[in-house]
Amino acid sequence: MSLSVTAATSADAPELAALAALTFPLACPPEVTAADSAEFIAAHLSEDAFAQYLADDSKRVLVARRGGNLIGYALLVFSPPSDPEVAEALRHLPGPAAELSKCYVHPAAHGTGAAAALMQAAVDAVVLSGCRTLWLGVNDLNLRAQSFYRKSGFVEAGRRSFTVGGQVFRDFILSLPLSPHGK
Ligand SMILES: CC(C)(COP(=O)(O)OP(=O)(O)OC[C@H]1O[C@@H](n2cnc3c(N)ncnc32)[C@H](O)[C@@H]1OP(=O)(O)O)[C@@H](O)C(=O)NCCC(=O)NCCS
Repeated sequence: MSLSVTAATSADAPELAALAALTFPLACPPEVTAADSAEFIAAHLSEDAFAQYLADDSKRVLVARRGGNLIGYALLVFSPPSDPEVAEALRHLPGPAAELSKCYVHPAAHGTGAAAALMQAAVDAVVLSGCRTLWLGVNDLNLRAQSFYRKSGFVEAGRRSFTVGGQVFRDFILSLPLSPHGK
């Protein structure tokens, strides 16, 4: 079955919320309780939240489908980071910078190339927008994601804090330099 990666539309919001609820816990360290995870999902990954991301000109949602089924999504944010730790980490990197705020693939599609296709589409969109750096935050303990990002060309650029359910976790900030002709 063929894989496609396209810009999401408002019609994708219900499926996006369902996939996000399934995949968000996979990125969390063990200290994040089910209740904390559920609270984060309700606040940031609901159907309404995705409808807002889709209506926001400074954001872009990409969806990966195989045989019509949603198997992955990415959220790009094109506004400057509000977190001072991130701003400091990006200060010496080529600007403007965009954030890969979310990159999630259904567990059944891990290791199938879907994530790489999603990443390529994200990089293409960011290059087209004129940004020169793509950055992201990834939890210390999320070794699979770190490995995927590093093989996609990301390198460590700094550290930041990330709060879930009142607990503060440390993330790596990873960055990918982009040229106007692609990464
Ligand atoms: C992150 C994600 C999108 C990557 O997609 P993927 O299909 O798993 O990525 P790939 O299989 O192409 O790459 C993962 C690599 O990590 C390796 N890996 C797997 N488990 C690992 C571990 N525990 N430690 C280190 N590397 C690991 C894999 O072997 C693979 O490397 P290889 O291709 O050289 O064999 C996907 O794993 C995902 O959705 N995870 C859950 C959500 C998440 O964590 N999102 C990121 C939030 S920042």
